[in-house]
Amino acid sequence: MVFIGLQSLATLVLLGVRSVAAAANGSVPMQVRLAYAGSHGMTVSWNTYEHVQHPTVHYGSEVHNLCETAKSDVSVTYQTSTTYNNHVELSNLRPNTLYYYNIPGSNATTPYNFTTARKAGDHTPYVAAVVVDLGTMGRDGLTTFVGKGAASPLAPGEINTIQSLQQFQPTYDFLMHAGDIAYADYWLKEEIQGFLPNTTLGDGAKVYERILNDFYDEMAPITSNKPYMVGPGNHEANCDNGGTKDKAHNISYTVSICMPGQTNFTGYRNHFRMPSRQSGGLENFWYSYDHGMVHYVQIDTETDLGHGIIAPDEPGGSENEDSGPFATLKDQQTNWLAADLASVDRAKTPWVIVAGHRPWYISLSGSDQCLDCQDAFEPILLKYGVDLVLSGHVHAYQRNAPIYNGTVDPNELNNPTFPWYITNGAAGHYDGLDTLDRPFAYYSRYAQDEAYGWSRLTFHNATHLTQDFVASKNGSVLDSATLFKKHEVGHHGKPGKGGAQS
Ligand SMILES: *[C@@H]1O[C@H](CO)[C@@H](O)[C@H](O)[C@H]1NC(C)=O
Ligand SMILES: *[C@@H]1O[C@H](CO)[C@@H](O)[C@H](O)[C@H]1NC(C)=O
Ligand SMILES: *[C@@H]1O[C@H](CO)[C@@H](O)[C@H](O)[C@H]1NC(C)=O
Ligand SMILES: *[C@@H]1O[C@H](CO)[C@@H](O)[C@H](O)[C@H]1NC(C)=O
Ligand SMILES: *[C@@H]1O[C@H](CO)[C@@H](O)[C@H](O)[C@H]1NC(C)=O
Ligand SMILES: *[C@@H]1O[C@H](CO)[C@@H](O)[C@H](O)[C@H]1NC(C)=O
Ligand SMILES: *[C@@H]1O[C@H](CO)[C@@H](O)[C@H](O)[C@H]1NC(C)=O
Ligand SMILES: *[C@@H]1O[C@H](CO)[C@@H](O)[C@H](O)[C@H]1NC(C)=O
Ligand SMILES: *[C@@H]1O[C@H](CO)[C@@H](O)[C@H](O)[C@H]1NC(C)=O
Ligand SMILES: [Fe+2]
Repeated sequence: MVFIGLQSLATLVLLGVRSVAAAANGSVPMQVRLAYAGSHGMTVSWNTYEHVQHPTVHYGSEVHNLCETAKSDVSVTYQTSTTYNNHVELSNLRPNTLYYYNIPGSNATTPYNFTTARKAGDHTPYVAAVVVDLGTMGRDGLTTFVGKGAASPLAPGEINTIQSLQQFQPTYDFLMHAGDIAYADYWLKEEIQGFLPNTTLGDGAKVYERILNDFYDEMAPITSNKPYMVGPGNHEANCDNGGTKDKAHNISYTVSICMPGQTNFTGYRNHFRMPSRQSGGLENFWYSYDHGMVHYVQIDTETDLGHGIIAPDEPGGSENEDSGPFATLKDQQTNWLAADLASVDRAKTPWVIVAGHRPWYISLSGSDQCLDCQDAFEPILLKYGVDLVLSGHVHAYQRNAPIYNGTVDPNELNNPTFPWYITNGAAGHYDGLDTLDRPFAYYSRYAQDEAYGWSRLTFHNATHLTQDFVASKNGSVLDSATLFKKHEVGHHGKPGKGGAQS
């Protein structure tokens, strides 16, 4: 009897240990990522296998004394996801201050840390990193080989863009990613092209989520330390990569193959909490934030273009993505954009930078040149004296002259009136780089479509901004240009007029 009793006790203990271990795994934070949340906040997001009742973050300015606690009720998932997305906003933080933080259940041996945004009006120099079109690296994405029909694999041992961003991590304040995040919808092309040996088309929904998980795992060493400000791209919309043809079998796949959970930007909406509430924007689609001498605006080129223009990804749009709209009011995005830009205090934030996924000035004919986006946004960007417009979508790098409605600013980079446009979609993903049309467009000042890389913005002061293209493989700067803007406050009652802070 005693013996049996001990045995069942041992069994109970074992069972107990096992269920504790399972629960521990279930709530272990993964894929930790930060985002600025208004002037005094930081959102901490992470994923767990199980639902978390009250996602919690402990934080403080001393590494051994995380005396503050923030909690939320936001632990969300969707049909096909293998994880929950947890979001907690830390508020009332001091500007430009180092904080340490931890998440209960974390296996991290030392607390994580971040530095808050500089206060609007703080004109000390700093650097921001920019990518667009950055996909998963490794087994499900960009690696040293590709499937049949794909191009631009990495050379053996070549440093990819995620690794390069990690190498340079101490040198920039935060990372912007204006759409096409992970390329989970490439699972279909990867299956068709014979790139994934151990899964079939029938595993699609599973492979899609695996690509997302791989990406957020790969990015976590960066995004748990540097705020990661994202925008929507076409590859966030659906699982079918905008429609994919299997030529060998004469099959055309459309959005109808996508499982609920892999349409209409669902993963993207779950995964992030961009500061739209703090800036009057909409979810992760459009929003703005200040950091030191810069006002940043993220726009949505995929849905909700307004003015009666059907966006590429709206029902009836050119790519039939069948997504959106997300706004409830007519012209909600463009009205918001105009109001947001009108309220910028250029004495505090002389620089205004706008990021949107699709370009309209690019050396590539066809639908990758988003003329609908140009109609919707370009007049507003000119009216409010936007300094620089960043985009990607085309997988190459092209730095243009300042330009408006097809006319190059005669001042070029020496105090132009027109916005400066740079497209950098060369970060890298499974299907590599695009080939630009030759000769390059008349407004192009430097373009290349052979090296993977990212953009570095250096804000020197209120008048000088340098943009570099950094080649990921060796850290070399392949292109560098500096914009000079006088930014005279109050001049002509346009840029710099000064006004209420948003
Ligand atoms: C953690 O749990 C999930 C689902 O419960 C499982 O898929 C995963 O393999 C587990 N991971 C480890 C390291 O045990
Ligand atoms: C902690 O957990 C994460 C996510 O499961 C894993 O990637 C990492 O390797 C773990 N770290 C340690 C030190 O165990
Ligand atoms: C903050 O975290 C990063 C990334 O883990 C680390 O490299 C750095 O040393 C930490 N900084 C401080 C001051 O602890
Ligand atoms: C496919 O499965 C085999 C056998 O389990 C394994 O050796 C191989 O690494 C797998 N390949 C990939 C790309 O996952
Ligand atoms: C491919 O399929 C389409 C529609 O299903 C059909 O009209 C066409 O004849 C097929 N082409 C070939 C070469 O089989
Ligand atoms: C996408 O989601 C939004 C918000 O829920 C909804 O209003 C819209 O109708 C959806 N679009 C499609 C095509 O399902
Ligand atoms: C843009 O230029 C075209 C001529 O190239 C002209 O017809 C059109 O009115 C201009 N649009 C604006 C908004 O200035
Ligand atoms: C601003 O920075 C640029 C580049 O470093 C420098 O040449 C210029 O003198 C600076 N202007 C002022 C007013 O400090
Ligand atoms: C770095 O890589 C780029 C892109 O391939 C190449 O043009 C450049 O010459 C390389 N620079 C060095 C110093 O190796
Ligand atoms: Fe794109």
